[in-house]
Amino acid sequence: MKIGILGSGLMGGKLGTIFARAGHDVVFSYARSDRKLKRLAREAGKMARAGSPAEAAGESDTLLLAVHWSRIEDVLKKAGDLAGKIIVSCSLPMNAGDTGLVIGHHSSGAEALAKKVRKARVVSAFNTVPSEVLFGVFEGRRRVAKPSLVYCGDDPESKKIAARLIRGAGFAPVDLGPLRMARYTEPFALLVARIAYEGKGGPALAYRFERFGKRGRR
Ligand SMILES: NC(=O)c1ccc[n+]([C@@H]2O[C@H](COP(=O)([O-])OP(=O)(O)OC[C@H]3O[C@@H](n4cnc5c(N)ncnc54)[C@H](OP(=O)(O)O)[C@@H]3O)[C@@H](O)[C@H]2O)c1
Repeated sequence: MKIGILGSGLMGGKLGTIFARAGHDVVFSYARSDRKLKRLAREAGKMARAGSPAEAAGESDTLLLAVHWSRIEDVLKKAGDLAGKIIVSCSLPMNAGDTGLVIGHHSSGAEALAKKVRKARVVSAFNTVPSEVLFGVFEGRRRVAKPSLVYCGDDPESKKIAARLIRGAGFAPVDLGPLRMARYTEPFALLVARIAYEGKGGPALAYRFERFGKRGRR
């Protein structure tokens, strides 16, 4: 697949690297420095390169959206026409201080995003896992028992693509159903993040919690 990364930070940087190492064509875009994008591309291997959001979007069928909620409008504007594109979003609708969700209960960030880019096909995925464990899961991807990772969306074809990416990253994809299920996964993702960054156990504990404590199943 040709995959454009919109937001090359903790999530976008790691997932883009994993996708490139799994054999997909990857364009890293949207960081505060071009040098960082080039370094990421170099480290991710020959399938990766750095580009602008417009290049990442123009040359890819699938996009990973991995920016802070406050940057969504900006990155979408820079990406240009997204009609027909699959957007796999791990972005959570967090407030500026990252203390809470700005959308919840009756809607979700994923649904708000789908309204902003009506002609794109949005899948919510990868947001319930702390970025720190992604490489470890990818490295263990050949194990029989894989940690599960939930996703949801309204378009069957884009969900198949998201499931393929989730599987390729080393997880067992679990289809939760329509995009509105993100109303439940987003607060859950916030809880996982709280455990990861505020609790004593850190990302490993959050990851174990996300997997409902099935420590033996790696
Ligand atoms: N981190 C996690 O474990 C985790 C887990 C689940 C969900 N999420 C969600 O995933 C999304 C991304 O999180 P993250 O932790 O990957 O965030 P992050 O590390 O801050 O990455 C965001 C990216 O956006 C870029 N960016 C920010 N402002 C910019 C600007 N003005 N111009 C150009 N680029 C700009 C950053 O550039 P720089 O690289 O230069 O900083 C970075 O590459 C968020 O919505 C978050 O809630 C994160």
